[in-house]
Amino acid sequence: MDAIEAIKTRRSVRSYSPDPVPTEIIEDIIDCARFAPTGRGEEPWEFVVVTDERTRKKITDLAQYGRFIATAAVCVAVFCRDTTYYIEDGSAATQNILLAAHAHGLGSCWVAGDKKPYASQVADLLGVPAGCKLVSLIAVGHPLESPQKDKRPLEKVLHWERF
Ligand SMILES: Cc1cc2nc3c(=O)[nH]c(=O)nc-3n(C[C@H](O)[C@H](O)[C@H](O)COP(=O)(O)O)c2cc1C
Repeated sequence: MDAIEAIKTRRSVRSYSPDPVPTEIIEDIIDCARFAPTGRGEEPWEFVVVTDERTRKKITDLAQYGRFIATAAVCVAVFCRDTTYYIEDGSAATQNILLAAHAHGLGSCWVAGDKKPYASQVADLLGVPAGCKLVSLIAVGHPLESPQKDKRPLEKVLHWERF
């Protein structure tokens, strides 16, 4: 799968089989995350990979719109040090993770982290040091569905020269 195809065919998956994801695949997905663009070259990100079922269940007790994290084999929690561009940097890394998972034939879904009341509780649960902010929680696993969500068409979103 090339990059253009990966970008255009990725969709959020919320139904997973419990089969484990090989460690080398998880490592490659996180390796892709660290190549994301980053404001001022700061690379403020830290990635916590959670495979333990009990911990994933505890996360879903906090993140009410991420219940499927309990059933996906992997949850990646993306944290960033509190830099000027932490949200942009963490979001760029998150998108790399979604695309890398898709390129490996896995499903994924971005679950909100930053701005959510549970952000600090997830950080405490995962032993994250003070000063690191939760940007996103990402479910990753073997998909049991292939969503085909439509997108706003190109002619509605593309504005040449002026809006
Ligand atoms: C910042 C952000 C927060 C999101 N939070 C959640 C969430 O808490 N739960 C969820 O099921 N999906 C969440 N999503 C996924 C969106 O619902 C999904 O990307 C959107 O519906 C478009 O569908 P697609 O990813 O299949 O293209 C989030 C996406 C983003 C970018």
